[in-house]
Amino acid sequence: MKKSARYDFDTLIERHGTASMKWEKYGSRDIIPMWVADMDFRSPPEVIKAIEKRTAHGIFGYTLPPQELNRLIVSMLEKTYDWEVDPKWLVWLPGLVTGINVACRAIGRDNDEVMTAIPIYPPFLTAPGFNRRKLVKVPLKEEDGHWQFDFDRLEQMITKNTRMFMLCSPHNPVGRVFSRSELSQLAAICHDHDIIICSDEIHCGLILDEDKEHIPTATLDAATADRTITLMAPSKTFNTPGLGCAFAVISNPKLRKQFKNAMDGIVPRPNTLGYAATMAAFSECGDWHEALLKYLRANRATVSRAIRQMPSLSMAPVEATYLAWIDTRLSGLEKPVKFFEEAGVGLQDGIEFGSPGFARLNFGCPRILLEKGLNRMKTALDNLNRK
Ligand SMILES: Cc1ncc(COP(=O)(O)O)c(C=O)c1O
Repeated sequence: MKKSARYDFDTLIERHGTASMKWEKYGSRDIIPMWVADMDFRSPPEVIKAIEKRTAHGIFGYTLPPQELNRLIVSMLEKTYDWEVDPKWLVWLPGLVTGINVACRAIGRDNDEVMTAIPIYPPFLTAPGFNRRKLVKVPLKEEDGHWQFDFDRLEQMITKNTRMFMLCSPHNPVGRVFSRSELSQLAAICHDHDIIICSDEIHCGLILDEDKEHIPTATLDAATADRTITLMAPSKTFNTPGLGCAFAVISNPKLRKQFKNAMDGIVPRPNTLGYAATMAAFSECGDWHEALLKYLRANRATVSRAIRQMPSLSMAPVEATYLAWIDTRLSGLEKPVKFFEEAGVGLQDGIEFGSPGFARLNFGCPRILLEKGLNRMKTALDNLNRK
């Protein structure tokens, strides 16, 4: 049997009644939810089996990070990214948003600055303030339909109080896989100004462009590794965000200590089922992962084709993630997300990412649902133009 045929991404699975954040938002209204970043696919069978095995044991006491899991992460990072990591460098977390907030708390003092490039995943915008830091937003620039860092502007906006840069790589929402030269340029600026890098790499397993690869920031060179807090998780790739299990990789012992101190008394351990799922995800699910990427590539093509047929919308190529960042500014719609909601499609508002006039569409769903959502969008725009 062909690998991809072994897995079913096409069947619509009812998620109402499971307290799904994505689906409960619209209750019983006929709105296809295409907002928050989880997928409407079952996790790999191996992950489900591992959780069943763990639940069959029936005792869910306090759980240490399994040594075997630490060894597995180390070998996965070595194999996938040629990154040699000492198990001591791993810090387990119940989620990446926790990690982003802990990093803000750990680095610098009250009123110091934390910089990020917008548009950006919304918790990047709130974490500095929650931890008494000042947020500095540098816009990404779009050139020839391609989102990139504006290094000149970024460097100009650095002050003597800038302590940390929060990087999202691959980037949510613009879907970029940053090249070695882009990452190196960013790292060099951070080096020159003694800035710590918090590198959120949660989407690293979702590279769709076959000629691109994910480069963990910390693998650029030893000096960059020394100033980098890397955050990773199996949750986006294997669709397990409800299981709360993530990790940081911090090679610099001083930085690691600061990070761990900032967690003390506040951050719980991941839950025991999260560990079981992570173990299976990184050791047994290679074929499923490959099949998922193939399905997502076809969904990506479906989205770009459909958006091309809606001339008042546009989007840059999605190199990674299952999220399309759609420019609605030419449509003249004042409230595009409300407009599409009324047409039966629930997108996420660009305002939440720091960029009004844009909307994010999650295409991690069965193609039939995706096509239905895109058709609804097109019909609504066509009707608008006829008025
Ligand atoms: C860039 C990024 N970081 C973090 C998260 C969420 O992480 P967690 O669910 O582990 O808190 C997401 C979810 O969409 C994300 O896109």
